[in-house]
This record gives sequence, C-alpha cells and structure tokens, in this order.
Amino acid sequence: MLARGATLASRVAGRVAGERVAPKLLSVMPTQQRAAFATSMKRRDPEVPVIHYENGKRTEEQVHVPAGQSGPVAPEGADEQRAAKRFDPKVMDYLTPTLAKFTLQGKVAVVTGGGRGLGLNMAQALAESGCVGIAIMDVQTDVGDKAAQELSEQTGVDVRYYRVDVRDGGAMGRTVQDVEDHYGKIDILVNAAGIADSNIKAETYDHEKFRRLIDINITGSFITAQAVGNAMIRSGKGGSIINIASMSGSVVNYPQEQSCYNASKAGVIQLTKSLAAEWARYGIRVNSISPGYMDTALNRVPALDAQKRIWVDHTPQKRLGAVDDLNGLAIYLACEGSGYMTGNNCIIDGGYTLW
Ligand SMILES: NC(=O)c1ccc[n+]([C@@H]2O[C@H](COP(=O)([O-])OP(=O)(O)OC[C@H]3O[C@@H](n4cnc5c(N)ncnc54)[C@H](O)[C@@H]3O)[C@@H](O)[C@H]2O)c1
Repeated sequence: MLARGATLASRVAGRVAGERVAPKLLSVMPTQQRAAFATSMKRRDPEVPVIHYENGKRTEEQVHVPAGQSGPVAPEGADEQRAAKRFDPKVMDYLTPTLAKFTLQGKVAVVTGGGRGLGLNMAQALAESGCVGIAIMDVQTDVGDKAAQELSEQTGVDVRYYRVDVRDGGAMGRTVQDVEDHYGKIDILVNAAGIADSNIKAETYDHEKFRRLIDINITGSFITAQAVGNAMIRSGKGGSIINIASMSGSVVNYPQEQSCYNASKAGVIQLTKSLAAEWARYGIRVNSISPGYMDTALNRVPALDAQKRIWVDHTPQKRLGAVDDLNGLAIYLACEGSGYMTGNNCIIDGGYTLW
C-alpha cells in the first residue's frame, strides 16, 4: 500500500516495464538511469486523462499508466446479458449428496434491484440452480417488467415483478405478504438494490444527497430484510439472506472521493453481522457479498472512464468484474452447502483489496 498522501504520479512511477519498483530504489538509481526510465515511460506508456474535482473546481490532467499493466477496461463480452437456462429437476437423480447441497431445488427467492445488473444476473443464477419462484423487486418498471418476462420465458420459473421502492416500509410489507400468499413461502432474499455517488468531496457533500443514499443503501436493505425475515420466522423454516455490500465498506476507494457510499456499505456489513446474530435462533443465515469494481451500468458513466483504467491497474486480475461474477458466490450463500456460515462478509474483487 502506498503511504497516505502519495500522489497519483508517484503511485504510477513505482513501476518499471511491468515490475513494481520501490520508491527507495528509484531514488538510488543513477541520474542517467532515472532519465532513461523517464524517457522510456514517456515513449511507451499510454496517457490517461483524469478528471479531478476539488472545492467545486474541475481540473483535467494526463497520467501515465505503465504499458502492459492495463488490460481492456471492459473485456469483450463482459457486460453482455446472456439468456438463462432451464433447470431440469431430473438432474437431482445423478448428483452426489455433496453436489446436491449446492442446488436450490424447490426454493423461492426475492431479489431487490433485480431489474438489471448484478441483481438480474443473480436472479438468473437462482433460476438455473432450481428455484421454482422468484420475486423481482425494483423501482424501475421498464427494466423490472422486462427482466421478469424474459427470465420466466427462458427458464419456465414462475417470476413476478413488483414495482416497489425499498425505502417504503408500508409498500414493502404489503409486497412481501403478496409474495408469501402467492408462493406459500420465501427461502432466500438477495438485497441488491442500491445506488452510488462518486467524485463528491466530503467538504461539499450536499446533506439531502447524503441522506438519500444512506436511506436507499442501508435503511432500504434493513426494511427489506425485516419484512422477509418476519416471513421466514413465521414459516418456522428459516432461510438465507444475502446483502450486497461492497469492498468500499472495508477499504477507501482510490482515486475518487465517495465518503457517503463507503459509509453506507460499511453499515450494510455491520447490519449483516447484527441480523445474523439476532436471527440465528430462527434458522435464518445472513451474509454479505462485497464486490470490487464490477462492469455494470452503475459504473458505465463517461465521468468514470479514466478512473476505470486506474481501478483495473490496481486489480491483480487486471479486469473489472463481469456482471455474472457474483453468481457462484450468491448460490453458495443461498444453498445448504454453506449451512454453517452466517454473519460473514465475502469480498470478491479480483484481488483489489490485497494491495
Ligand atoms: N457495480 C459495482 O461496481 C458494484 C460494486 C460493489 C457493490 N455494488 C452494489 O451492487 C448492487 C447492485 O449494483 P449494480 O451495479 O447491479 O447497479 P445497477 O444500477 O445496475 O442496478 C441496481 C438496481 O437497483 C434498483 N434500485 C435502485 N434504487 C432502488 C430503490 N430505492 N428501490 C428499489 N430498487 C432500486 C435500480 O432500479 C437498478 O435496477 C448495489 O447495491 C451496488 O451498490 C456494485
């Protein structure tokens, strides 16, 4: 990790021809060698424009990204929405007891934010793993409706779309009641609805904007978990709740300032642990997934393009996460295979938080 206050230039200058070079080593290099290094960097390394906001002032600068260090920001096909496949229950006859524990045959799931992005991809994985009913809850009618129709057509699963804002406790209570009435139970909740704000300095963060993000990311996760948790308690059969937090709940992102998002996701992680401890007695497991930088619409905004190259450079796997990269972990946390796991925060970030 670089020392606090290290500049972008010094972070980037810490590499020579694909190798990390300790700042100390750079300083002991003979002047000639350093000059040659500087020239070769200029000649071979791409320039990346970075947009910077400070005290409401916007400035642009060019930074070097060492050649060969950055793969494409979005690898070809990474953000393509593939069609889901139908689960054939006959497969259960061939599975060993170990593998059978990793299916979700006969389960019913709720997915908030399931209209697109990570939520939609996890909903597809739930259907492909054997769920017989999936309720998609999303505030955007167009994406939610389309997602439910396509998922049902592709997999034969009974999928319902509910237009609900996760901040609205009354609406959420009625929605969850309807899900229970229709499917007879709820076994799994994936809490993926969330928003992000980036490049906002703490000194000038608008209070209303700050409250709104906290309200959606934390209060919304709680309201949904409470409504579904009560349904699971009523059933007497427990269930699995999976909150989508972020690595931003454990580390501070670089270079963009986003104190509110980071604080909100730290809250989601601690909410997860608290609910896990309180509801273990009801057979409800609660875990969180903390993704790194994922290639979804949330990040596909022009203002983040230059920063994305820096994110990729600082990720050992040299790519952003694909839209379906959380699927395997979500299924693991939902199924019996993770039966003794609760209150855990699972970071899945291509290694970003290792450095
Ligand atoms: N994309 C990333 O890099 C990344 C990284 C870490 C964590 N996450 C988290 O993963 C989750 C999903 O992110 P994504 O990238 O798929 O984003 P996305 O914007 O593609 O999808 C989020 C969905 O949530 C819905 N939503 C937003 N506010 C809502 C509300 N108040 N009520 C109901 N639905 C609402 C949106 O309509 C949208 O369909 C979020 O919680 C996000 O913070 C994303």
